[in-house]
Order: sequence, then structure tokens, then C-alpha cells
Amino acid sequence: MIENPQAVIRKFQKRDREEVRRISCATALVGKPSSIFFAGDELFADCLTLYFTDYEPESCFVAEWRGKVVGYIIGAKDASRIGRKDFLFRILLKTIASAALLKPKNLLFIWHCLMSFFKREFSEPGFSQDYPATLHINVHEDSRGLKIGAGLIGAYLEYLKEEGVRGVHFATMSERASGFFSQQGFELLYKGKRSYFRYILHHDLPLYIYGKRLS
Ligand SMILES: CC(C)(COP(=O)(O)OP(=O)(O)OC[C@H]1O[C@@H](n2cnc3c(N)ncnc32)[C@H](O)[C@@H]1OP(=O)(O)O)[C@@H](O)C(=O)NCCC(=O)NCCS
Repeated sequence: MIENPQAVIRKFQKRDREEVRRISCATALVGKPSSIFFAGDELFADCLTLYFTDYEPESCFVAEWRGKVVGYIIGAKDASRIGRKDFLFRILLKTIASAALLKPKNLLFIWHCLMSFFKREFSEPGFSQDYPATLHINVHEDSRGLKIGAGLIGAYLEYLKEEGVRGVHFATMSERASGFFSQQGFELLYKGKRSYFRYILHHDLPLYIYGKRLS
């Protein structure tokens, strides 16, 4: 029987920032921690969440269960804004300050990403015209299967509609999560693959891009 968690889905607040960052690092590699392939949780969490929590917090929601944040959806109404120069500059400064590029684990990861880039694995079509918004969703492993993910998606889509956003798209490398997104009414827009984790997982990962029109 599925327990009704009575999770509260609410807007992100500043005090949720650390927990969002912690969950993002704990589940980065298809549910496994980022420390497997990257040394430096702070910088990794910055790359994954900083734009959303610091530049567009109004587009973020968290799920609270029994007084604890157990999941989040962090979004952007216009995905192209994630490439804004002041944000990228901040990440660059933090990269230099943390000496992340001197750590062998990180160099190995960057090397494999570069190999993927040269194999043109990053050259997927752009979907921002019809689906300008984007999202990242994560529910803590212990709290999955309790309708928390569905609640977060519902709250975020409602918000985007109120804001008059035409559509939303996002990428996932999780085969398992793809079933969830189909179930939530998202359309598969593109399927590719990513090989940059093969040196750890010994297989390629699929890359799914899902989208949903909102008007
Ligand atoms: C994907 C994820 C957000 C789903 O959240 P969740 O809280 O576990 O899912 P829910 O309990 O809300 O499920 C809602 C519905 O989707 C279904 N569902 C959930 N996961 C599913 C899966 N992997 N495949 C098929 N259906 C799935 C549930 O059965 C439920 O269906 P029902 O309403 O008919 O009973 C969560 O598992 C997760 O955080 N995964 C890891 C992170 C990730 O991959 N994020 C995506 C990258 S952006």
C-alpha cells in the first residue's frame, strides 16, 4: 500500500538552499553521489543549482515531509537565461578559487566530457522556441513513489501557466525517470546518448529530452 505522505509542496525559500544543494549532489549520477566523479560538492552544487536558487528563486518549489525538505523542482521560465554572463562569470571565479581544475578526478571527468563533445553528443536540436522554460526535479531516494514528484510537477506547471509561459522542456539521463515523465504527460522530443560516464558505469547513458506545451 502506498502511504499518503501528506507532503507539503510550497515555494522555495532561502532557508531551503542548503538542502536543495545537498540533494542535488547526493543524486547527481543517476541516483548516485557526485563525489564518485567530481571532487568538490560546493562547486558541483553551484553548477547544478546556483542559477535557479539565486537568480530565479520564484520559479523553484520544494516538497516538505515531516518537517524536512525531501525533494525539489528548480526551474527557469526562459532556459536561455541560464547562460547569462554574470552567472557564468561567478561559476568561473568559484572554479578558480576552489582549484577544482587541479584535482585529478575532475580533470578525468572534464576529459571524458570533452571526448563526448568531440563525438558531437552535445549537438542535440534546440527546443527553446516552442518550450522556453526548463526544470530539474529530484526527490530523495527514501521518499520516492509517494506522489511527491507528481505534486512538484503539478505546482510548477501551474506556476508556468499563470506566468503565460508557452512550454517547458528538459533533459534527463535516467531511464527510470523517463517512465515518470511520460506518465506526467510529457512528450519525448529527442533521444540521444552520452558516453562520458562510461569510464565509471561501463555503459553509455541515454539522453531523453521531454517537452510539454502549456498554451
Ligand atoms: C522521477 C522522480 C522525480 C519521480 O518522483 P516520485 O515522487 O518518486 O514519483 P510519484 O510518486 O510522484 O509518481 C507519480 C506517478 O508516476 C509513476 N512513476 C513514478 N516513477 C515512475 C517510473 N520510474 N516509471 C514509470 N512510472 C513512474 C508512479 O507510479 C505514479 O503513478 P500513479 O499516479 O499512476 O500511481 C523521482 O523518482 C526522482 O527524483 N528520481 C531521480 C532524479 C531524476 O531522475 N530526476 C529527473 C532528471 S531532471
